[in-house]
Amino acid sequence: MARPNIRVAAVKALLPVVNQQESLSGSLPNQLELVPEQDRGLLQELCFGTLRWLTRLEGIRAQLVTKPFKSKDRDIDLLLLLGLYQLIYTRIPAHAAINETVSGAEDLKKGWAKGVLNGCLRRFQREETELTEQLQRSDAARLAHPNWFLQQLKQDWPEQWSAAVDANNQHPPMILRVNHSQSSRDNYLQRLQDKGIEAFACDFASDGIRLEKATDVTRLPGFDQGMVSVQDEAAQLAADLLQLAPNQRVLDACAAPGGKTAHMLEREPSLSVVAVDSEANRLKRVEENFQRLQLSAELHCSDITQLDNWWDGKLFDRILLDAPCSATGVIRRHPDIKWLRRKTDIPALAELQQSMLQLLWKTLKPGGIMVYATCSVLAIENARNIQQFLTLSDARLIGPVEANFGMNTGFGQQLLPQPQGHDGFFYAVLQKPEEGGLSEKELPEKISAKTEQPE
Ligand SMILES: C[S@@+](CC[C@H](N)C(=O)[O-])C[C@H]1O[C@@H](n2cnc3c(N)ncnc32)[C@H](O)[C@@H]1O
Repeated sequence: MARPNIRVAAVKALLPVVNQQESLSGSLPNQLELVPEQDRGLLQELCFGTLRWLTRLEGIRAQLVTKPFKSKDRDIDLLLLLGLYQLIYTRIPAHAAINETVSGAEDLKKGWAKGVLNGCLRRFQREETELTEQLQRSDAARLAHPNWFLQQLKQDWPEQWSAAVDANNQHPPMILRVNHSQSSRDNYLQRLQDKGIEAFACDFASDGIRLEKATDVTRLPGFDQGMVSVQDEAAQLAADLLQLAPNQRVLDACAAPGGKTAHMLEREPSLSVVAVDSEANRLKRVEENFQRLQLSAELHCSDITQLDNWWDGKLFDRILLDAPCSATGVIRRHPDIKWLRRKTDIPALAELQQSMLQLLWKTLKPGGIMVYATCSVLAIENARNIQQFLTLSDARLIGPVEANFGMNTGFGQQLLPQPQGHDGFFYAVLQKPEEGGLSEKELPEKISAKTEQPE
């Protein structure tokens, strides 16, 4: 059988993203299955890289193609962007990159496009300096992010936005979470060293290890036995913030694929955990992860806001609300976010998050703790949401206390993505007063204490 053209496989993975607003994590696995194992790394690299630099590549394409491709020829357009990506950002020899990309047109039964692709890519080789200089005129092209997002980021983080954008364009590090119930971090670091895998303890997450170079999980000692999982450092902070204790009843409100649920149970195996997620296929991944890690929880596939579907009426000691969000803190891991997210999505997400906060608050015991988390870097989904929630409920903001990570906004801790460090994330730790704990008279003072300004 003829070897599949990897550029064409990349086009097929990218088309649903750019045409139907599907996520790359949904469309890529089908294509990965169809190519030989040794080509899967390249296919992944081509898809991630092209989406990471899309607005830059489009800025160059606009100079090369005077008449835009018809919408039915989006595949050819993507081949051109893939070709440019290879020439600019990879070490694939230029002749191989151009030949393979141009011959992709034949595989797509659009032989007429070979001349156009060849001409554009060769012109880019000749005029790279001039064509690239033109990109300086537009922030979106220069910084490879959509304009609306850059504007919002500048507004929310006037001093930090530029570093966050740089971090978003870099390859993320591979971070592991050591299973506390099976090994200590020091022991596991030693095991990695024995296997010749260079690794370091994370700065903030006590079970976290950063690998110097990403590796296939099958090379990780004890992976199949659940000794270790892959999870970003920021996501690993949730378990500590929940202040877990034996036998507590815990709700993980938006649980899939279950990274944080698993971490809680690894830390405190006696917990009784109810894990809910509205997406059946994502909930299946919780089951798979739990099987490997030998953990169990009560799983429900339901919209969390439909309490009658999944709640038995017993209050929870702890709630993790890892809310659906813009995912603007994890752009470097999911560069399709740059393309998929729209400015208009954000207020609707903030509203959904606020309604989840208010509804789930009812299911928390007096004295209980809720951790609100998002992988967003936008204030409206994070600090502003918590600020509003505090005025609408009896919640007290109790943390993160003296956090050595992120920035204190006055309404929770905001982490921005760090090169070779954690993702962008947000955490607020909220406590419900004990019954009869907080009188009406105390409220004004409580509210004024909460409205301190961000640092
Ligand atoms: C940020 S992800 C959760 C990640 C997870 N906590 C972890 O650490 O692995 C948000 C999840 O919310 C789920 N979700 C979105 N809307 C929901 C809803 N209305 N009810 C329940 N789950 C929902 C999504 O399917 C998604 O899995």
